Amino acid sequence: MSMVSPPRLGVLVSGRGSNLRAILDAIDRGSLHARVAIVISSKNDVPALQIAEDAGIPWRVIRGAEYSSRAAEGAAIVAELRAAMVDLVVTAGYGRIFDASVVEAYRWRIINIHPSLLPAFAGSMAPGPQAQALAAGVKIAGCTTHFITEETDAGPIIMQAAVPVLDDDTVETLAERILREEHKILPASIAAVLAGTVRVVDRRTIQVTEAKDARS
Ligand code: GRF
Repeated sequence: MSMVSPPRLGVLVSGRGSNLRAILDAIDRGSLHARVAIVISSKNDVPALQIAEDAGIPWRVIRGAEYSSRAAEGAAIVAELRAAMVDLVVTAGYGRIFDASVVEAYRWRIINIHPSLLPAFAGSMAPGPQAQALAAGVKIAGCTTHFITEETDAGPIIMQAAVPVLDDDTVETLAERILREEHKILPASIAAVLAGTVRVVDRRTIQVTEAKDARS
C-alpha cells in the first residue's frame, strides 16, 4: 500500500459512462493510482451518475441551460472541482465545451477522450466522429486522448489507438471496436500524466523519464 494519498480526479460526463467505469476498473485493478473525487454531469438522470452513485462517489449535475453564460457555468464547474480538491480533470463522454476560464484554471491538467484519430473528425460528439470515419471510407479509425486547450479537440495528443474499419461495419460496430480501445488508452493516459512523464512541447507531448508535471 502506498503511503501517499492517491491523486484526486474530477470526471465530467454526459451519458452512458463506460469510460468512467473503465477508470474505476483500472483503479480497482491497481493499474491506476488515483481516486475519483467527484463526477460532474451536464445532464440529469444519465447512466454515468448511477455508476458514480453505486461506487459511492460524490456527484453533481451542472446544466448549461441553468446558467446565464458559459463563463458562469465554467465558474460553477471550477468551484466544484476546487471544493473536491481535484488534481486532474478528465472529460469522458462530456458533451459541453469548457469556457476558457476552466481551461485556464486547470492548464495541462484536463484530459479528453475523443473517438477518432485526431485531427481527423474533430468537433462533434459520439457517434458523429465514428459516422464520419465510415462515410469518409477510411480503413483505419481509432481514438485519441489529448490535453484540452481553448481550441476544441486540438490540444496536444497524449495517446492514440487504431482499429481497422471492416467492410460490413455499421456506425455501431465501429463505435464498439473503438470504445474498447478508449477504455485502455484513457486510464493509461491518466496514469502517464499523473506519473509526471508527459511533457507538453509546443503542440505535441513527449514522454520523458524524469517525472515533473506537464506544465512547460
Ligand atoms: C465515447 O465514444 C467518447 O469518446 C465520446 O463519447 C463516448 C462516451 O461514451 N466523447 P461513455 O459515456 O464513456 O460510455
